[in-house]
Amino acid sequence: MEASEGSEDSPDRASHTSARTHYDATSTGVTGPAIQARVPPYKRPDHFTKKAKAQGYAARSVFKLEELDQRFKLTRRGGKAVDLGCFPGSWSRYLLERGMSVVGVDLQAPALTGGTWIARSAMEVEAVELGRDIDLFVSDMAPNTSGDRFTDHARQIRLAERALLLALATLRPGGAFVVKVFDGEDAPAYTRSVESRFAQVKRVKPEATRDRSVEFFLVGVGFRPE
Ligand SMILES: C[S@@+](CC[C@H](N)C(=O)[O-])C[C@H]1O[C@@H](n2cnc3c(N)ncnc32)[C@H](O)[C@@H]1O
Repeated sequence: MEASEGSEDSPDRASHTSARTHYDATSTGVTGPAIQARVPPYKRPDHFTKKAKAQGYAARSVFKLEELDQRFKLTRRGGKAVDLGCFPGSWSRYLLERGMSVVGVDLQAPALTGGTWIARSAMEVEAVELGRDIDLFVSDMAPNTSGDRFTDHARQIRLAERALLLALATLRPGGAFVVKVFDGEDAPAYTRSVESRFAQVKRVKPEATRDRSVEFFLVGVGFRPE
């Protein structure tokens, strides 16, 4: 899978209907600069998409993890990582390149060597399959978006809750957790549940996240087992 907009999963803040109306203009058979100008910004390759492609990463989202790593010093050579929602594989590849062992979970396995891939829903995977004493547990999981902001938020929070449950069962004391969250009414309660188990939790919107996106990341460091 190439570093395309298809790998950017975040629903747009703007009306889905109006975005689609514009985008459909490209399928009328009319081509040229006038049509290009009507393609919504999030459908055009941007700086991060081009950079991911140039560096051979499967998705532009790799730059979100890279930014979080640079800021919070999350990776370490010889450490153990779990990556939920690992397809098409840019986060896992980054973690492997940083010298970590990786167990990745997604509905399909990425075309990457060097990690252990579990091609199933994270809702069905058991903690014991992910290993123990994990140093870094990341989740970039997102549902297929419907365009209905509330539905997408509710579905995504369920994935984030599953990620937290599995992280709490597998992290070593002091370990770190990164989770994607679609903002919405359940986000504050979810944030509080993460805050209760980590020494420090930050809410971050990485530069590579599009301005219009409703996604943010929670980064928890210093896992405190009960
Ligand atoms: C934004 S993509 C992840 C991109 C990935 N971090 C990368 O850099 O290549 C979100 C992923 O979440 C996955 N996903 C959605 N629901 C899931 C579930 N129930 N279990 C596991 N993965 C899921 C999707 O299949 C999709 O590949």
